[in-house]
Amino acid sequence: MKFFIDTANLEQIKEAHDLGILDGVTTNPSLMAKEGIKGSEAVMKHYVDICEMVEGDISAEVISTDFDGIVAEGLVLAALHKNIVVKVPMIKDGVKAIKYFTDKGIRTNCTLIFSAGQAILAAKAGATYVSPFIGRVDDMGADGVELIYQIRRIFDIQGYKTEILAASIRNALHIIKCAEAGADVCTCPLDSILGLLKHPLTDSGLAKFLEDAKKFA
Ligand code: G3P
Repeated sequence: MKFFIDTANLEQIKEAHDLGILDGVTTNPSLMAKEGIKGSEAVMKHYVDICEMVEGDISAEVISTDFDGIVAEGLVLAALHKNIVVKVPMIKDGVKAIKYFTDKGIRTNCTLIFSAGQAILAAKAGATYVSPFIGRVDDMGADGVELIYQIRRIFDIQGYKTEILAASIRNALHIIKCAEAGADVCTCPLDSILGLLKHPLTDSGLAKFLEDAKKFA
């Protein structure tokens, strides 16, 4: 399973990258706004900065909701850097735009996926990635990880090449469960990635080793 970081924060991207496990980055308008980036020039520069930090797929999201607008925005984003993946929402014009981009060889990430039916449509349109939002599914009282299992089964049966990019990850357990469910990629906040490091027996075991090492130092 590939690890992407789900942030537009350059310090956090650097920290995950320095860990040596980072395969890519996903952003969205909320994450960009959180960094206080204003104006399309600054937004474009920020995407390029991220592309220069991480060698891997970088998702940049369109904010238009009509076919012509999505296509115009996506072409600009795709031209910024070879690693940009155009992130398109799961709406009717979004599906049409994904097919357009697929035919042009431009890679896409279909975002805001909450059902297997949506994932099937995006895969049929040729999306490179589908992004099921598992944390938000959990928030509704349903099972986000079960959605990953279901999409995995369907994609395997149907032979769809679209990668399942588990998104809206809230904790380390989500990452483990997504790996178990067969997600191709998990995009995570830095805290959830770092949460994988933690175990109290590791901490107490290391403390004991270091204590005992003093006996022969
Ligand atoms: O990748 C999508 C993600 O950013 C949404 O996460 O926590 O806002 O549901 P969240």
